[in-house]
Amino acid sequence: MVELEKIEYFNQVLPDIEKIMTSKLSIEDKLKMVCLILKENIPHYDWVGFYLTNQQKKDELILGPFAGDPTEHVKIMFGQGICGQAAQKQETFIIEDVSKETNYLSCSANVKSEIVLPIFKDGIVWGELDIDSHELIRFDEIDADFLEKVCQKIESVVS
Ligand code: SME
Repeated sequence: MVELEKIEYFNQVLPDIEKIMTSKLSIEDKLKMVCLILKENIPHYDWVGFYLTNQQKKDELILGPFAGDPTEHVKIMFGQGICGQAAQKQETFIIEDVSKETNYLSCSANVKSEIVLPIFKDGIVWGELDIDSHELIRFDEIDADFLEKVCQKIESVVS
């Protein structure tokens, strides 16, 4: 996808995401709607989901709302896989080719690339947005900038 096309897609969906965030829906329903909007409107966002930090066990992520095929990875320890590394390092991870990763948890052989962004509350990782693609090198800094905006909107409703 060329840069301009991407930006057009992002500009189309951002107002919808803003509306959802200011609606009276529960946080769970808001996250579910964000998953559906991203998966249905952005090409090759093939699995979109949230992992949320376990409030009883703060070094563990639990699968939250998602759109796409079910995954066996319903609990992930900090440090484990791309999601666990992003939580531990508190950084966005962009993986161009998952087959080259040594610390990676595979959900499906179809997945070729992935992006994971932490979502913060009071300076600690509250959860993560995780997106898989069936295309290699699907995610770049333009995706990351847009998705960081999405995560900031979520942070504004969970803080
Ligand atoms: N691939 C992730 C696991 C989550 S699934 O993509 C839904 C990881 O390596 O942490």
